[in-house]
Amino acid sequence: MDKIFKGMKPSRRSFLTGAAAAGAGAVATVAKGQGAPDPAIVEQQPWRTFLGEGVDAYPYGMPSEHEAHVIRRSVPWLTADPISSVNFTPLHELDGIITPNGLCFERHHGGIAEVDPVEHRLMINGLVDKQMVFTMEDLKRFPRENHVYFLECAANSGMEWAGAQLNGCQFTHGMIHNVMYTGIPLRLLLEEAGVKTNGKWIMVEGADAAGMNRSIPIEKAMDDCLIAFKMNGEALRPEQGYPVRLVVPGWEGNMWVKWLRRIEVGDQPWHAREETSKYTDLLENGTARRFTWEMDAKSVITNPSPQAPITHGPGPTVLTGVAWSGRGTIPRVDVTIDGGKNWYQARMSGPSLNKSMHRFYFEFDWDGTPLLLQSRAHDSTGYVQPTKNELRAIRGENSIYHNNGIQTWYVNEQGIAENVEIS
Ligand code: MTE
Ligand code: CO
Repeated sequence: MDKIFKGMKPSRRSFLTGAAAAGAGAVATVAKGQGAPDPAIVEQQPWRTFLGEGVDAYPYGMPSEHEAHVIRRSVPWLTADPISSVNFTPLHELDGIITPNGLCFERHHGGIAEVDPVEHRLMINGLVDKQMVFTMEDLKRFPRENHVYFLECAANSGMEWAGAQLNGCQFTHGMIHNVMYTGIPLRLLLEEAGVKTNGKWIMVEGADAAGMNRSIPIEKAMDDCLIAFKMNGEALRPEQGYPVRLVVPGWEGNMWVKWLRRIEVGDQPWHAREETSKYTDLLENGTARRFTWEMDAKSVITNPSPQAPITHGPGPTVLTGVAWSGRGTIPRVDVTIDGGKNWYQARMSGPSLNKSMHRFYFEFDWDGTPLLLQSRAHDSTGYVQPTKNELRAIRGENSIYHNNGIQTWYVNEQGIAENVEIS
């Protein structure tokens, strides 16, 4: 592929100086050139000819009809039945760092539980001084906190262990969302119940038909876990665990039990289905990695990408993407447009929050020749996102979970992008 990478270099500087020096003239290099008068300017548009809807037309606001393609999508061949399935966040349509509530991917093992908040109870039992049962009203009398955290399913990018498969960052990386949660520190509830000295683990259990449960070490439970009832300011959506879910910052999504109904304190893990036969990685030597909770640093370029090709032709081009780490923040992301021959530091933009998604940009002048795009995240511990082959060398090829390898998009002369792997 060597010969196709000629004279490609980033040109944020030339784009910016052009804009500053030439003013409106520089815009012409980005926008359409001169020619026939633009009907969008010189003709009356229909929306100027009649009055719009009044304020009460949409008591709960919805996106413009022109954004109807911005939706969660599933991959039919991935699961046999929508009841125990997954859909994906349209990362390529989003910007900034917050995932809108209606676009947060969903993963259910037994469908969406239809919980009545008045009848819902959260129980704490096991190795505690005082077994307790809370109503939603009780919970709302504890001090609350607000935090933005990403939730990534451990199976995100799982299909890519076997090679480039799914054509779109929605499908390769869309089992993630990043939301501001309002909730009560789990520590406060556990302190209320009084954890006995031999209480070393908790088991968290959902009220859904799957009754999904996981074991969590008491140190994490006492650290930053939240009993959340709001997401992005409004009540949790039913698909995200209404009326209450557990938030386990930086740890695999499976532990963030939705429709949370019970917390049992014990002296050892429960070895539940979801931490034995699932969410465990079988290595080449026949042993398995278990209790791999923390999500390693990862990033993906969301634009351009297979669902978001370059449609404007050569010239100034905005590359953007997201990065995150279960261990802290992302101070730096590198990007390459030539398959790793040259790496450039991307521009981070927006808040850099602990265990949250981060946004990066890289502006360059596309000369119209093919591109091989990659991003590489560095987290605040100094960890650097590995290549897929570096991961395979250690974990073998049986894995499903915890694939945080570098993603490659190939972009052809027409700007069409495709999921590929380069060694
Ligand atoms: N909690 C319950 N009660 N039931 C479930 O099926 N799925 C888990 C977790 N919590 C699940 C659950 C999995 S595997 C993931 S990745 C996350 O919820 C997904 O959260 P989301 O649907 O808000 O994206
Ligand atoms: Co999951």
